[in-house]
Amino acid sequence: MNFTNLTTELSGSIFIIKINRPKQLNALTRSTIEEIGKSVSYAINDKEVKGIILTGSGEKAFVAGADIKEFSSFSREQGQSLSAFGHMVFGQIESSPKPIIAAVNGFALGGGCELAMACHIRIASETAKFSQPEVQLGLIPGYGGTQRLIDLIGKSRATELLLTGDMITAKQAKEYGLVNEVVTLAELLPYTMKLMQRIVSKSSLTSKAILKCVNAHFSSLNEGYETETLEFGKSFETSDFKEGVSAFLEKRKPDFKNR
Ligand code: CAA
Repeated sequence: MNFTNLTTELSGSIFIIKINRPKQLNALTRSTIEEIGKSVSYAINDKEVKGIILTGSGEKAFVAGADIKEFSSFSREQGQSLSAFGHMVFGQIESSPKPIIAAVNGFALGGGCELAMACHIRIASETAKFSQPEVQLGLIPGYGGTQRLIDLIGKSRATELLLTGDMITAKQAKEYGLVNEVVTLAELLPYTMKLMQRIVSKSSLTSKAILKCVNAHFSSLNEGYETETLEFGKSFETSDFKEGVSAFLEKRKPDFKNR
């Protein structure tokens, strides 16, 4: 398959999707998300594929978030549409009948942390860092972060991270239960491949049933996702969002006026 923002590779029965915009720290444009959706669909429908690994290219970032430059002048409606689109693709990852592991090779921020959280399992390199920094942009997470972070690390810690935008290390992420294991950057892909090989050596029918049951546990959360989409869209109408994004682009601290 040919993509502009991704590379894909089949290694045995494991399909590796690598987000490939390293100069922009693999930030997710809408078309990158679309390509992730298409590549995951392809892998789900391909009989040769038994498991999927998602990772980022380069040594610095898994994904540094949604592409801020792309949405800097969005309206409320465009914001809501982007969030709904992200929910659809990330929901497709979460509900995949084939196991998907995120191999987090660096910054997993905003939409990047949300992408990793949509995967079934997360393995991180020692160099990985996690945050939902949207609050610093006068924005909220829009790809499920306000919901999945609570599922993974509990309400108290999730609320603190969402309200502060603080970044945590891979070691802290493991302590919090956000990632399953932390390994060296050199070991990240080999370790993740070995784990996936152990998983795909089992019956794929049984794996599919287990994934369905695990997801069923969280199926009552639709209202939370809807609220996120509405509030994400509303943020685009505030002066604080405009200030937050200008500050990021001008590489300075934002001066929020609370309006
Ligand atoms: N969107 C667009 N471009 C981004 C980006 C993003 N999320 N993250 C990094 N980049 C770009 C930078 O603008 C820069 O591009 P230029 O060279 O053209 O200026 C390039 O990637 C390298 O980044 P930096 O120079 O900033 O690298 P650094 O080492 O100084 O800092 C960083 C690294 C801490 C990750 C910093 O880039 C950063 O804070 N990035 C933004 C993180 C963020 O706020 N993510 C959330 C986005 S909003 C979101 O995701 C909403 C949602 O839920 C849907």
